[in-house]
Amino acid sequence: MTLVRLIYTSYPAFPTRAGWLTGPLGEIVSAGRDHNARNQISGILGVEVNRFFQIIEGPQINVLETYNRIRTDKRHYDVQLRQSCEISQRMFKDWSVGFAARAFLPANEPAQIDFDAATPDLIIKRGIVLRQYGVIAEAGLESPSASES
Ligand SMILES: Cc1cc2nc3c(=O)[nH]c(=O)nc-3n(C[C@H](O)[C@H](O)[C@H](O)COP(=O)(O)O)c2cc1C
Repeated sequence: MTLVRLIYTSYPAFPTRAGWLTGPLGEIVSAGRDHNARNQISGILGVEVNRFFQIIEGPQINVLETYNRIRTDKRHYDVQLRQSCEISQRMFKDWSVGFAARAFLPANEPAQIDFDAATPDLIIKRGIVLRQYGVIAEAGLESPSASES
């Protein structure tokens, strides 16, 4: 099975508040939790100050189908694809939502990174930091990833 990773950045079309999974963000998270677990999709949706980024990993067809749904969603805009590549293994074991809030992050981690200048590797690093410190919602994969190799 071909595994791929896709990264995009976008801007929320509604106000977000660190740690609050209410309103549109709550709906996005419920949809993502259901759908991503069923489709072996892992990664992270990062909620930064007025910015989203998402890393989506999984079987190629599932990732493309999911991204096509997400990119036309009116709850965010200026969706920019930053990376799309084949991978040999996942960087994330599950799918989660992480908030980049000063209160959640270690002192040496910036409250905001410059997403326009950031390389895909830097965005992945940020995703790993948010996975560790900023996560308030998560969803496991329904099938064990061992069946992929
Ligand atoms: C920033 C953002 C991230 C999203 N992430 C996901 C996701 O990871 N998985 C998913 O299924 N839907 C995600 N969605 C929601 C989809 O765009 C879509 O509304 C949802 O999958 C339901 O699609 P349907 O109404 O065609 O069933 C996201 C939406 C936004 C705005």
